[in-house]
Amino acid sequence: METLTVGLGDRSYTIRGGSGILPGIGAFCRELGLGRIVAVVTNTTVGPLYYGPVADSLAAAGFSPLRVELPDGEEFKTSATLNAIYDALIDGGLTRDSFIVALGGGVVGDMAGFAAATYLRGIPFVQVPTTLLAQVDSSVGGKTGINHPRGKNLIGAFYQPRAVIIDVETLTTLPEREYLAGMAEVVKYGVVLDPLLFAEVERNIAPILVRDRDVLTRIIMACCAIKASVVEKDERESGLRAVLNYGHTLGHAVETLAGYGTYLHGEAVAIGMVQAAKLAEHRGEATADDTGRLRALLESLKLPVELPVFAAEAYREVLLRDKKARDTGLSFVLNNGIGGFSIVRLRDLSEVLDVCGIGG
Ligand code: NAD
Ligand code: GLY
Repeated sequence: METLTVGLGDRSYTIRGGSGILPGIGAFCRELGLGRIVAVVTNTTVGPLYYGPVADSLAAAGFSPLRVELPDGEEFKTSATLNAIYDALIDGGLTRDSFIVALGGGVVGDMAGFAAATYLRGIPFVQVPTTLLAQVDSSVGGKTGINHPRGKNLIGAFYQPRAVIIDVETLTTLPEREYLAGMAEVVKYGVVLDPLLFAEVERNIAPILVRDRDVLTRIIMACCAIKASVVEKDERESGLRAVLNYGHTLGHAVETLAGYGTYLHGEAVAIGMVQAAKLAEHRGEATADDTGRLRALLESLKLPVELPVFAAEAYREVLLRDKKARDTGLSFVLNNGIGGFSIVRLRDLSEVLDVCGIGG
């Protein structure tokens, strides 16, 4: 098992990663001094797979676990589902010294975290991420929330967990597409923040594709260390944390234009990263070789890299949708070679559209 700390003063916490560590959750929560009643918030897919061992371990350590099972899917990341969580917490008699365990992917983690942030003005919660995306990204850093009919993640809070427990064994049941989409976020950290991580992923394609537990533990903990150091410097995204949006600007445009669900988030980010690399190359911040390495790595992880065809006007409209982008230009993260970055503001989108071959 590997551990690391997210250093945020009195809100600091430990991330534990390893294979087969879920049965240790009860003892770990004891060490944290958490109260007796615990709501384990999960969903109808993850609950049947992992609620049992988690609840057994919590009960053996003297806790009283309560199962809260949500419907599965981004479409349920809503105020209605959040209310159902509050109902279960109230019915279960959770008080200020009770806590929540978020057992699932990013959807469960974001919602359970937001419920923890707001129930009784805040109770502790522990993240137990079970998708690769949640293990390398969403479970660390304290962004919690739900969607609003007018947009994704519009309602939320920065609220840090008390601990993160990453059992790579849970990835064995994750569908292949979800797993590989999570790998796009791993590559993201490498391209903009860590050339050694990038090279390690390049060297380990075969073990990654068969989900080798040791390689995964090492890579996931490397990603968590990078995210922790970004969050420690800029918890509320006033600057540096925006680097984590590398590949997301065009990625989001692709998700929107293709219709949510056509591309998984990580797949759209893979496409967006290659476009950002082309722009970096055009501006002399990266070489054709860097772009080629990124493209080859994503392709070897079976991720898409080509922008789907939509009218230039449609791309322009989606990219400039928010008022801030219209007024001051679009904020865009570029890679600097492999392992560095810069954040630029683009007032005129023609350059992006031309470089990415978005004609019309
Ligand atoms: P998800 O939570 O929808 O999980 C993907 C699918 O995998 C779901 O069907 C889920 O039930 C299933 N699943 C989860 N674990 C499994 C397992 N071990 N075995 C089998 N199936 C399993 O999707 P996600 O990609 O994990 O998260 C996406 C969400 O994360 C989005 O809502 C996004 O906004 C959010 N997000 C948040 C942050 C943050 O910093 N808080 C960062 C990135 C993304
Ligand atoms: N996923 C981006 C962030 O946590 O800031």
